[in-house]
Amino acid sequence: MKILVVGGGGREHALVWKIAQSPLVKKIYCAPGNPGIAELAENIPIKVDELDKLLEFAYSEKIDLTVVGPEQPLSLGIVDLFEDHGLKVFGPRKNAAIIEASKAFSKDLMQKYQVPTAAYGVFDAVEPAVAFIKQTGAPIVVKADGLAAGKGVIIAQTCEEAIAAVKDMLSGNAFGSAGSRVVIEEFLTGEEASFLAITDGKEIIPLASAQDHKAIFDGDQGPNTGGMGAYSPAPVVTPAVHEQAMQSILKPTIDGMAAEGRPYRGVLYAGLMINGGQVKTLEFNARFGDPECQPLLMRMKSDLVPVLMAVANGDLSGMTIDWHDKAAVCVVMAAKGYPGEYSKGNEIIGLEEAAKLDDLYVFHAGTNLKDGRCVTNGGRVLGVTALGESVQKAIELAYRGVDRISWPGVQYRRDIGKKALTRTL
Ligand code: AMP
Ligand code: GLY
Repeated sequence: MKILVVGGGGREHALVWKIAQSPLVKKIYCAPGNPGIAELAENIPIKVDELDKLLEFAYSEKIDLTVVGPEQPLSLGIVDLFEDHGLKVFGPRKNAAIIEASKAFSKDLMQKYQVPTAAYGVFDAVEPAVAFIKQTGAPIVVKADGLAAGKGVIIAQTCEEAIAAVKDMLSGNAFGSAGSRVVIEEFLTGEEASFLAITDGKEIIPLASAQDHKAIFDGDQGPNTGGMGAYSPAPVVTPAVHEQAMQSILKPTIDGMAAEGRPYRGVLYAGLMINGGQVKTLEFNARFGDPECQPLLMRMKSDLVPVLMAVANGDLSGMTIDWHDKAAVCVVMAAKGYPGEYSKGNEIIGLEEAAKLDDLYVFHAGTNLKDGRCVTNGGRVLGVTALGESVQKAIELAYRGVDRISWPGVQYRRDIGKKALTRTL
């Protein structure tokens, strides 16, 4: 089989790495890919939003399966375009990817199908939004309706802060058209987990549990990022929490999407907030999480390709996914300044030394090649991911890898996975 992976971040490197292990696969292309991916696949210089060029490439190269990593091409309708031209593709169609592309849509869906989530209101004018904020009180959460690269959520500690965020979003100053509508919701407390499942619109196969680390600094301090590290399994997802997530969140959501005439195929990622054993949904994503994908795929024993193909064919029945008992931990190494303005072009030292460690893989995210040397080219630069007999062992190995790599201004959290230890000890 010939496979095309769309994207060029750590998630796509992990997908390519896993797909490359399949005996079914003869050749992998990745658009646009990155220097790490280039060791396993042929990079094609097409951007993820250049849908017509991607189609033309897949069509002329007779690609057997296209796997879409990021949300942007999904929300632009890449799956519709490919399917309408008879090509097999893994991911939801545009009318289903809206579950991530519009927070107002996903909140209304959850309300309609009684999926537990925070109380909320949707607004496109300042005055009623201000009245809602005053009535609810702070802390309160203001979210841009549309895609904002993980940055469209403001946790406001005061009503004034929330009102300022609403004004900023509705005026179009923050997040452009993505903020022309806002969701304002009740502030939830508890511990977060990422719950991902693969579905053909009927059957649901949950993936192993995972936990992300959204904040930039240790102890969950500082602004939110795309994710500074992740691990799997996540002990906060007890068997009871897993069952609740499946029965009260994933199942009614997948069934609800079908009932709405928006059958959901692909991977559905539910962001969970768990408090006292009760689970609520923070958000849905229409794709694999990044960095969650890295530890999840390192733990996946089964061949991923038949599963992806079954979803593209619309029939997952009879499929199962097996997991290694080992734990996996991914530590993200980021550029100085991230998640704000960051510098690019710093030479990365030590990649070869890190590669010598067994059970460790360095996934590339924002990297580039300059004069034959690997340099930083994004906010999140690398995802150093390790397997271990326990979360503790995987943490130790991942940080041994991190210690071998450096560049000027590199920053990373030193407490990835720590939450799992406080639960299992
Ligand atoms: P979202 O993209 O909607 O998941 O929001 C990004 C992050 O903001 C989440 O991972 C949480 O850390 C935080 N967040 C979102 N909604 C809420 C909420 N209702 N209460 C508390 N924190 C939230
Ligand atoms: N790691 C969070 C996300 O992929 O949205």
